[in-house]
Amino acid sequence: MSDDYCLRMERVSKTFSGVPALTNVDFRVKKGEVAALVGENGAGKSTLMKILSGVYKYGEYGGGIFINGGEAKFSSPSDAENAGVSMIYQELSPFLDMSIAENIYMGNYPTNFGGVHWAKLYDMSKKLLETLGLDYDVKMTLRRLGASQQQLVSIARALARDSAILVFDEPTSSLTNSETRNLFGIIKNLRDSGKSVVYISHKLDEIFAVADRINVLRDGENAGEFETGRCEAKDIIKSMIGRDISQMYPVNKAKKGAVVMEVKNLTVGHPYVPDKKLIDGIDFSVREGEILGLVGLVGSGRTEILNSIFGSHKGNHSHELILEGKKTEIKNPYEARNARMALITENRRFNGIVGIMGIDTNITLPYLKSVQRSFVIDKRKEAGTAAKYVEELRIKCSSVKMRLEYLSGGNQQKVVFSKWLNTSPRILLMDEPTRGVDVGSKVEIYEIMNKLAESGIAIVWASSEMPEILAVSDRILVLYGGTIKGQFSRGEADQEKILALASGVN
Ligand SMILES: Nc1ncnc2c1ncn2[C@@H]1O[C@H](COP(=O)(O)OP(=O)(O)OP(=O)(O)O)[C@@H](O)[C@H]1O
Ligand SMILES: [Mg+2]
Repeated sequence: MSDDYCLRMERVSKTFSGVPALTNVDFRVKKGEVAALVGENGAGKSTLMKILSGVYKYGEYGGGIFINGGEAKFSSPSDAENAGVSMIYQELSPFLDMSIAENIYMGNYPTNFGGVHWAKLYDMSKKLLETLGLDYDVKMTLRRLGASQQQLVSIARALARDSAILVFDEPTSSLTNSETRNLFGIIKNLRDSGKSVVYISHKLDEIFAVADRINVLRDGENAGEFETGRCEAKDIIKSMIGRDISQMYPVNKAKKGAVVMEVKNLTVGHPYVPDKKLIDGIDFSVREGEILGLVGLVGSGRTEILNSIFGSHKGNHSHELILEGKKTEIKNPYEARNARMALITENRRFNGIVGIMGIDTNITLPYLKSVQRSFVIDKRKEAGTAAKYVEELRIKCSSVKMRLEYLSGGNQQKVVFSKWLNTSPRILLMDEPTRGVDVGSKVEIYEIMNKLAESGIAIVWASSEMPEILAVSDRILVLYGGTIKGQFSRGEADQEKILALASGVN
């Protein structure tokens, strides 16, 4: 078959122990096109790409993959790579202690006299990185690069193999704004040089910035196909969740009560520069029922502030903490929990969730092992508690016993959320809680925040998504250069003004 679709996936179906994850999904990408794949958490995006990249072998799914018209039958990821399909992983490479050059050409080294031709390897790697506008020392170990740089090395690897199809599954979740812009530039160049790009993200603004066409999956089925120039975000959302969202940002109506937490003179040392301060003696407080937002660019210290309060910041830091009028010292997360604090972060690995355990156990898992021994776990109660959260947060799973590692990324995040809510905190700290979470579930998370606020909980949170932090917080603190540059109530300031403050423009 000759047409300009370099990749066609036709009537693809996949079940996991009888539960369908994909049903008759069609997906195609042209040469020289960026095709976005969107859908709610658990819609099947990653599963479809795992089929494309050989993680699920030929025979383990229904339907077919056609590359340039011929059917591809992969029995491993390296088969897929050899056929020109590259996944750009954001997760760290398993070969962190090998050089950048080795990572780029692994499995494909230039040789002479039967051995690796090192000089040539380094030279080729250097030239390749230059085409991406990068100037790294290619002999350096991969470990020495940051996450975003490692991702660029992964792109270089795809180029080294001359892959025709590159798949990006939520590539920007740990990138700064300027790194994201840089990545978009690279993706557009790839497209213009004739590559086919698949782009998965929950951030619709990114989709509109980078994609030519948008494919929507809902519950494992095709739900719509749109051309980027001919649709709006609300069309995509409707197709994704099957309804309009009447109010993206519900407003917190909780009455504000007494001050629950006062933080004084919070100082955090700079991670790399010994005598410098990342946060330089800030003061703030939060009241019962209040949602306080921390706004700042990546690196402004939001995460460090939250972790310092919670006793989980590793570096140098100090502050005075007054909880409900009483001076309190919190040296570690265990003490924080006893003081009825909870910290939800976006990094699932550090949230103490366990992949091989069920949703139920993860939610009710006591925070520290030491507490565990004194408990006899009531299995029925455990299941009941989990069922409540599964319903409230619409966690997509086949049962509350389902192992966490089988949940989609966004649904794992909802389990993290449930686990902390289940500790009934008085003070809820959250760092990028909606990262990787789909649009519909974001609204549910905001609603839960409002409900918690109404029950008197004080919330302090940070988010890089300006629209959400501005709309959901009752009050925001804008951080820049280690200090609080401005303080606004909801609706007092617009996005531009705040971004300018947060970037140190005025
Ligand atoms: N190994 C597995 N065993 C059982 N079920 C699985 C497995 N892998 C995925 N699933 C299920 O398949 C469905 C699709 O998951 P997938 O990871 O493809 O979703 P996704 O669209 O990538 O979601 P997200 O936006 O949250 O990343 C989910 O319901 C998930 O729980
Ligand atoms: Mg996914």
